[in-house]
Amino acid sequence: MKVAVVGTGYVGLVTGVVLADMGNQVIGVDNDPSKLAQLRAGISPIYEPGLEEVLKRTIQEGNITFTDSIAEAVEQSEVVFIAVGTPPAADGSPDLSAVKSVACSIASGIRSYTVVVNKSTVPVGSGGLVEGIIRDAGVPEDLFDVVSNPEFLREGSAIRDTLEADRIVIGAKRREAAMKLVELYAPLERPMHITDLASAELIKYASNSFLAMKISFINAISRICELCGADVGDVAKGVAADKRISPLFLQPGLGWGGSCFPKDVQGLLRVSQDFGYDFKLLAEVIEINESQTANFMDRLSKRLGGFSGKHIAVMGLAFKPNTDDIRYAKSLAIIERVLGEGGTVRAYDPVAAANVREIHPDIEYASHVYEVAEGADALILVTEWNEFKQVDLVRLRETMRQPILFDGRRIYSAATAVKAGLEYHSIGVASSVPAQ
Ligand code: UDX
Repeated sequence: MKVAVVGTGYVGLVTGVVLADMGNQVIGVDNDPSKLAQLRAGISPIYEPGLEEVLKRTIQEGNITFTDSIAEAVEQSEVVFIAVGTPPAADGSPDLSAVKSVACSIASGIRSYTVVVNKSTVPVGSGGLVEGIIRDAGVPEDLFDVVSNPEFLREGSAIRDTLEADRIVIGAKRREAAMKLVELYAPLERPMHITDLASAELIKYASNSFLAMKISFINAISRICELCGADVGDVAKGVAADKRISPLFLQPGLGWGGSCFPKDVQGLLRVSQDFGYDFKLLAEVIEINESQTANFMDRLSKRLGGFSGKHIAVMGLAFKPNTDDIRYAKSLAIIERVLGEGGTVRAYDPVAAANVREIHPDIEYASHVYEVAEGADALILVTEWNEFKQVDLVRLRETMRQPILFDGRRIYSAATAVKAGLEYHSIGVASSVPAQ
């Protein structure tokens, strides 16, 4: 099938290369010339395991090309995906300006029947918005349909998540339009859910908000554990053993970040308000997430007697492992807190340091994990990269001014840290100190 994908960010690029790899003729569209140059050379502008390999392969096989002209790509395609960003505006509602302008350009390229697929996360009712823009631009109603096909891929496992999706959601007004996407996705052999437009749009918000709620729930339990002497690790395991709950997204830590959860939880809260429902539960899910990092830093500040004049090592900057994405990363809140209270920071991350450096040229960056803790009064584990799980804690401790470890993702056991001579503080469990 001939397909255009407008927007070559995470969602657009992964969707494009996977569809191309399935043998479709794909045109990727982006308005950033440097990104286009990289893509044409087979270089992925984002760090995502496996992506560059598929990109190179599909270019070589002639199944994917890139252009900056939406109209030109649309003219040659039966299905056009909109996969541009919808970042939160100042009031928390998603900023739809990119979706709107893309819809206008798509309208100018429609020559024959085209299915316009919205993959960007948009408020309920936006399918109608895109449809209205294309119709108002003079495209006859029988020449196009708008379909909602939300994306559930995770950064770091995006290709696999696309190939092995739990479900493919297709929301459309007319069955014929939905069937076009069923045909496109059929080779993946995944369960397909065909709904109306509004339901498909809501499935995306509800799924991400539910997962964020699960994490906030276990993080709230971690706070009770710290107060009552329980261990959230044991509590989570016991709770997760109930098949109805499952262990997935029940890992306590510093809280959730990234490009989706913060935006989508906020987005659903906002959409609910707009429709006249006060979704108080979601406001609390956000509040727990914010206070989780703040509480962790309060504990560290208390232990050190404040951050003024203290040097803090930060291990991990990305919002989660296997990505260089730092959007709503907990590392940023941590760095800002330390700097704001008169401390200094040295940080290390295997891939995300360059992105943080753009925001924080005012901190030091270690080029190697064993340099991060030199002279530190405390070491904070922020992102659970595999290489940190294997790190030699004795070697790290030997370089520190004070042997204090705050483990924000519970990747070390208290026993291992204490054996390495470190004072161990974590989430949802009492602190442990080495015997004198
Ligand atoms: C998420 C959704 O999972 C995906 O379906 C959607 O398409 C986009 O948003 P992503 O943001 O890539 O994907 O990351 P994910 O692995 O879901 O993690 C989100 C955040 O939750 C991270 O900050 C992670 O550290 C945190 N998290 C996740 C926890 O704190 N505990 C957990 O148990 C799971």
